[in-house]
Amino acid sequence: MNRSRELNVGDRLLALFNDGPPPATNQHSTISASVYTDPTRHAAELSAMSHHPVAALAASQLTEPGSFHTTELAGRNVIITRDNDGHVHAMLNACAHRGATVEHRPSGSARVFSCGFHGWSYDLDGSLRSITDASLFSATPCTTGLHQLACEERHGIIWVTPDPASSTRVADWLGPDIDELLVDLGAGSMVHHAETDYDLACNWKLLTDGFLELYHLKYLHRNSIAPYFPSNTFLIDRHEHHFIGWLPKSRLMRDISENPRDDWQVYGGMTAPIVLVPGTVIQWQAGHIELFSLRPHPTDPTRTTARLTMLVPEDRQHDKELWDRNWERVCATIPAEDFAAAEEVQRNINSGAVTELQIGANEHALVDHLTEALNC
Ligand code: FES
Ligand SMILES: [Fe+2]
Repeated sequence: MNRSRELNVGDRLLALFNDGPPPATNQHSTISASVYTDPTRHAAELSAMSHHPVAALAASQLTEPGSFHTTELAGRNVIITRDNDGHVHAMLNACAHRGATVEHRPSGSARVFSCGFHGWSYDLDGSLRSITDASLFSATPCTTGLHQLACEERHGIIWVTPDPASSTRVADWLGPDIDELLVDLGAGSMVHHAETDYDLACNWKLLTDGFLELYHLKYLHRNSIAPYFPSNTFLIDRHEHHFIGWLPKSRLMRDISENPRDDWQVYGGMTAPIVLVPGTVIQWQAGHIELFSLRPHPTDPTRTTARLTMLVPEDRQHDKELWDRNWERVCATIPAEDFAAAEEVQRNINSGAVTELQIGANEHALVDHLTEALNC
């Protein structure tokens, strides 16, 4: 546990809470609304996304040998499996013969995958098992099987890199600071509690924007979560392409104001969105995690599926009532407030009513995120 880092976050939050923010070093700026509609930019962002690990599902959702899960990541259909030796694999869900989708079910268990079009079959690791009427093809198989994707379990999540040509290690992509923080937060021992997919009529970046500024808290969330947080205390740290937002609850600020520094439990009173660019947000919630995996539409920049998953500590998962209540609160707040606001902005952009967005000095991380979404 990197305790000095936890205390340093507490020190900086306390200074901010007591003294207010230092004079802004960033200027007011504007961004063109086209960044949320331009199909060329969208294609470039999807391409960037396909070369990085994407949070596909919780590792605890795929524990049984022979289990599989299908999903769409960076616009590509993917099958994720656990083989009989316990290893995870991911491959493109597109038949090596003439490209049909091999597995249509969202999840289940299988010994082999059999394509419904002409009956070719594949093993759990995607390798070709059999070709029907094989004499019609050359003696040496014309393919070794489904396209393999880099796939790794880390921090309680199965990560898949959707482009077969890329194989970035998750730890390298996270960088040492975020990798260590996720260990300190115990992410690796969190298990799946609940999840929902939201099909939203907005660009994926309008959904990440909400994690990168506190400005909206006391307005958009005035009737829900705003009363639990001081409205002037929020830090953003940068780590390589990624962002960490530190948002303390009011009770944490009270605790660390009144108690000796050695007793501080900073992470225990904190909401901390870890915005991994592009498209994944691991939001630490003072003891459990909300995972936002953003799945942009393959061609339409104004549509996104947001998969929201709640992960809870394995040793406390039996407290089902507590987590159910928590999940109900999340589902009542985020879609009705953050997602609704993002869709509202997108509608006004689509109609031509909005061509430029004004970005205050306190929202500058949105501009940095736009740059990183292309350059990551
Ligand atoms: S497309 Fe799958 S067997 Fe023909
Ligand atoms: Fe919000």
